[in-house]
Amino acid sequence: MAQEVKGIVARGKGQPVELTSVLVPDPGPGEAVVKVQACGVCHTDLHYREGGINDDFPFLLGHEAAGVVESVGEGVVDLEPGDFVVLNWRAVCGTCRACRRGKPWYCFSTFNASQPMTLTDGTKLSPALGIGAFAEKTLVHSGQCTKVDPSARAAAVGLLGCGVMAGVGAAINTGGVTRGDSVAVIGCGGVGDGAIAGARIAGAAKIIAVDTDARKLEWAKGFGATHTVNAREVDDVVTAIQDLTDSFGADVVIDAVGRPETWKQAFYARDLAGTVVLVGVPTPDMKLEMPLIDFFSRGGSLKSSWYGDCLPTRDFPMLVDLYQQGRFDLDAFVTEEIPLDGVEGAFEKMHHGEVLRSVVVF
Ligand SMILES: NC(=O)c1ccc[n+]([C@@H]2O[C@H](COP(=O)([O-])OP(=O)(O)OC[C@H]3O[C@@H](n4cnc5c(N)ncnc54)[C@H](O)[C@@H]3O)[C@@H](O)[C@H]2O)c1
Ligand SMILES: [Zn+2]
Ligand SMILES: [Zn+2]
Repeated sequence: MAQEVKGIVARGKGQPVELTSVLVPDPGPGEAVVKVQACGVCHTDLHYREGGINDDFPFLLGHEAAGVVESVGEGVVDLEPGDFVVLNWRAVCGTCRACRRGKPWYCFSTFNASQPMTLTDGTKLSPALGIGAFAEKTLVHSGQCTKVDPSARAAAVGLLGCGVMAGVGAAINTGGVTRGDSVAVIGCGGVGDGAIAGARIAGAAKIIAVDTDARKLEWAKGFGATHTVNAREVDDVVTAIQDLTDSFGADVVIDAVGRPETWKQAFYARDLAGTVVLVGVPTPDMKLEMPLIDFFSRGGSLKSSWYGDCLPTRDFPMLVDLYQQGRFDLDAFVTEEIPLDGVEGAFEKMHHGEVLRSVVVF
């Protein structure tokens, strides 16, 4: 029997989101129903609402969540009711070409629940990133549930489910930041600050935070930024980063905004043979024009980071341990706890740069 719960649905492009009733089916084979305890508001939810991801409206938004497993379907052996889990959008298949060749963080065939959640009139919902956790309960594939230390705070560890992990992983997995590196991070929202925290965990010697918002730069210092650059106040971000790195540029530059101008800054603000990591998500209309010779003569590597190239089973418990030991301040990402009907207001605050993460707490 399907259960009726409350959830946040985006019905159409640019329309305000709506609190409405959602039907959650009992878990089928390989699936699990999770009672959501907390779910962060990520910029990607806003991208969905604005039609920037695809047109599969209506969306059930929310995807940075932690909760408790309520029930599991047939064949689920590694999860049981009562388990405390962080939800992930990379339940690896084990059999695609990436998985078979030992690179499951690129898995091209990740699992989601196969049954749809619906509105009460039967309209199928598209859950954001296959999760849909701005809802009291959600249906996911069991592989989307990663068990972590149940004594951890749900509002904090749920953030590992997307933005913070994407940022941490952009630094330590994709960017390969290591001891002594200089790192610059452009855009210090939840993702960028995750990258700053990741660079600190990896032992970077210099971490330069770049943002257009002074408040964001202040917060970035708390995550480990050793230097800050206010992109509104300097003539040129590239020169500002070079000035802070003996005029050479940083070893790794992470673009956590995802616009042509920020990516270009990242490209030119890195040292010769350095690495650029694009983790911010551009929109389909964005274009770049640059001299090809610059790609050749500057060398190095230009990478994109999907979900921080993370493996939830490997990375979530490790980061929760660091959090519990006081070595990784996940609490500092939680600017405010809000009720389920506060998501639209949280988008507004995100737009004005007032929050790092608003987290819906049930
Ligand atoms: N690659 C992935 O797997 C992945 C996962 C989650 C989110 N994302 C993407 O990462 C991006 C950031 O997400 P977020 O939740 O941190 O967003 P956010 O809105 O909280 O943060 C963006 C930050 O960038 C700053 N900014 C904007 N324009 C700037 C500019 N020109 N120069 C410097 N700073 C600028 C803003 O002031 C803000 O602090 C989004 O595009 C989001 O969709 C990617
Ligand atoms: Zn796979
Ligand atoms: Zn997200």
